[in-house]
Amino acid sequence: MIETNITKMFGIKYPIFSAPMGPFFTRDLALAVCEAGGLGVLSNVNIVGTDPVEEHISSLEYMIENTDKPFGLNILTSRNNLGVQDMVRKLPKIVMDNPKMREQCKYWLTSAGSSQILPKSKSFQELRENSEVKHFHVAPAIWLAQKCVDAGVDGIVITGTEGGGHQSYERVTTLVLLQQINKAFPNLPKIACGGFATGEALAAALSLGAGAIAMGSRFIASKQSEFHEKYKSLIPPGTPQDTDLFTGAFGPIRLYKNEYALSHPAPSSKEEMIAYEQSITDEQRVRDLGAYDRVYNGDTKNGAVLLGQSIGIIDSIDDVKDIFERIMKEAETAIRNNYSMLK
Ligand SMILES: Cc1cc2nc3c(=O)[nH]c(=O)nc-3n(C[C@H](O)[C@H](O)[C@H](O)COP(=O)(O)O)c2cc1C
Repeated sequence: MIETNITKMFGIKYPIFSAPMGPFFTRDLALAVCEAGGLGVLSNVNIVGTDPVEEHISSLEYMIENTDKPFGLNILTSRNNLGVQDMVRKLPKIVMDNPKMREQCKYWLTSAGSSQILPKSKSFQELRENSEVKHFHVAPAIWLAQKCVDAGVDGIVITGTEGGGHQSYERVTTLVLLQQINKAFPNLPKIACGGFATGEALAAALSLGAGAIAMGSRFIASKQSEFHEKYKSLIPPGTPQDTDLFTGAFGPIRLYKNEYALSHPAPSSKEEMIAYEQSITDEQRVRDLGAYDRVYNGDTKNGAVLLGQSIGIIDSIDDVKDIFERIMKEAETAIRNNYSMLK
């Protein structure tokens, strides 16, 4: 058993979270992660034709019907996410009014925008005062971690540039970020994210001050994830070099290098990325939006295939329970081996 500040905070058995992976559905994945002893996270779903608030409500209902374990949800607070004001107003109220949801939906993760939007919501303030919910925000740079602390977060998710999908302009690796943020905020609860797929890496994250890890790509390659089989089949045999950082209508994003990705620029600086994003036409925006629907339906050539460098470590599509068992065994062995080096 490995007990950390994060496993104690959320009452979970293992220090492993699933990362949010909007705009795709991750309900069954979240459920499997919770049942395996970790903490599963519902993604901010906005595949064309869906209403993100309604999707979250039906996912919340699905979770409390199928598990008694704690879980979490993600709200993208970016300017591009049109439903965000509705989400921060309506969702806390719905959870507040349902005792089972209030008890289980403990982890509120915001990302890709301001860390202040959720804590400023009156209904979230009421929920926070009357429950054990915790607010975490994704910090891809040390100056953003400071902003999260100023916003009064309960903890942060530290996500480096090797991670799949939604990214930042900052391009700092998880390894460096963890050391920077741990030095600056030693007592702040932290979840390490981006590039994790093994127990040895979990042991390293714990040494670097994190209380848990969150994984995206590793869990896409699981039997329970809702991703299309063609999407999963790119993971083994993928290599870290098969992904790169691109930009488009949704800001910086790590994608598998298929035809869609290669039709977008991979700018080398934050300034170049912002300049490109500002030049995007409405027509391009619509085309980029469609790339998520295409991949959701299995078009892995012309769709946006969000994946991290960690695909180079993943060599099979596994049951979520087996992923947990293997990673925990590897982490315990690594920690014991490290301990035995002490003389
Ligand atoms: C398919 C996919 C979709 C993602 N969508 C989101 C999202 O909606 N919100 C978010 O905060 N991060 C998103 N991310 C980033 C993940 O939460 C996480 O940071 C990343 O997967 C970690 O790297 P890994 O894939 O190496 O584990 C996404 C990642 C992937 C692979």
